[in-house]
Amino acid sequence: MHTIVFKDALIMDGNGGFPADLGIDSERIAAIGTGLSGKTEIPLGGAWVLPGALDVHTHMSLPFAAAISCDDFFTGTRAGAFGGVTTIIDFTAQKGDEGLRAGFQRRMGEAADRAAVDFSFHGCIGRLSSEVVADLPWAREAGLTSLKVFTAYRSAGLMMEDGALLETLKLCRDNEILTTVHAENGPIIDSLCEKLGARGTVGMDDFPASRPTFTEVEAVRRLAFLAREARAAVYIVHLSAGESADFIGSARAQGMPILAETCPQYLFLDESRLSPPDGHFFACCPPIRGKSQWKGLEKGLSDGHVQVVGTDHCPFTRAAKNTWGGDFRKIPMGLPGIETMPLLLLHGAREKRWPLDRAIRAFSANPARIFGLYPRKGCLKPGSDADLFVYDPMGETEISATGLHMATDYSPYEGIRLRGKILMTVSRGEIIVNHGEWKGRPGRGLFLKRAPFDPGLLKGF
Ligand code: URP
Ligand code: ZN
Ligand code: ZN
Repeated sequence: MHTIVFKDALIMDGNGGFPADLGIDSERIAAIGTGLSGKTEIPLGGAWVLPGALDVHTHMSLPFAAAISCDDFFTGTRAGAFGGVTTIIDFTAQKGDEGLRAGFQRRMGEAADRAAVDFSFHGCIGRLSSEVVADLPWAREAGLTSLKVFTAYRSAGLMMEDGALLETLKLCRDNEILTTVHAENGPIIDSLCEKLGARGTVGMDDFPASRPTFTEVEAVRRLAFLAREARAAVYIVHLSAGESADFIGSARAQGMPILAETCPQYLFLDESRLSPPDGHFFACCPPIRGKSQWKGLEKGLSDGHVQVVGTDHCPFTRAAKNTWGGDFRKIPMGLPGIETMPLLLLHGAREKRWPLDRAIRAFSANPARIFGLYPRKGCLKPGSDADLFVYDPMGETEISATGLHMATDYSPYEGIRLRGKILMTVSRGEIIVNHGEWKGRPGRGLFLKRAPFDPGLLKGF
């Protein structure tokens, strides 16, 4: 007799679907089979059970321009739970030359009593100081087994030069830590921004010209070559361009050690949304692109060369976005997305844009494997954490900010009608969302110590 049994489910774990009951004891999946009985039995009548989604790219309470992203670790993870997300990986921040521990302790202070689902951090740095180098073995032992660096954002003190990038890749390799990179050519972007500024052309019509597609493609190509030289893996975050994905496909076919993530905004929104008067609500870096870029991203997702979909959840209210004063250089950049990601991806699959199993794995098994959480997270197997969501394939969801739970007051996907509806979300055996009702609480999420990065994974997608 299990504690909870979901009866008559379709188990959809990213490797085909099969009908079964799923039993939970305490915090773990206890059994998947037929005829299971439980103290609480929940009949699903064929609704799908999917692994809880991992959103491995979130920015809760991130200072950007004159604003701070408006979800904290509670509101953001609660919103994620409404959308099927049961794990997040956010970022630490570095002050000056400090090492990784201080930033980790600060972020733990913000997250530990607030997170409603399990969480971890990527160590995030702008400078490869001697303090950071000294902390890498500690980071490995503490389970902070990914590091985030940038090839842009010089004015924020985040941009890393190529020499330091190469060194970072090698040091991370030696410490079994995965290097993740925001890949845009910062110097070219800075010079384009300066030219546009000098002409006074800094409205939203000008924004795409400040960060053209080639600035991402060039940085992605450079990182792939640096990673090959360093014999280290590199993971590119928030890939916006089909051309980048095409390159990664051919680079991986030649054995280059590169992994990639894209986000729903690059698969469902196009640059027509950037036009005035509301374009600044859609501004993020890299920018959303023309529709012609979708094909390469769809292909990357379909053939496994783009392994992960994260959200880059970095929400601002309309009031915060409105502080830009007509100058795109002053916009707090980023979009809300944690609550809508699994539904959008499943919808895209059901519209035949990419295979359903690939979509499921892109938010479950793949990020769990890459970031050292598999099989505790990212799958439906006896012994794994009972993290899952129940999805009614016959239902429908119309996205509207008023029905969402993120702390912002708009959604870039407003009015989009999606196939399917999320009925329940379970985190470590606890039903935290039940038919639209919140049952969780702040601080119930646990910090997840992650396993070292396994380079053997590079070939496995
Ligand atoms: O515009 C974005 N993406 N804001 C969040 C910070 C980042 O670059 O990921
Ligand atoms: Zn970024
Ligand atoms: Zn980001």
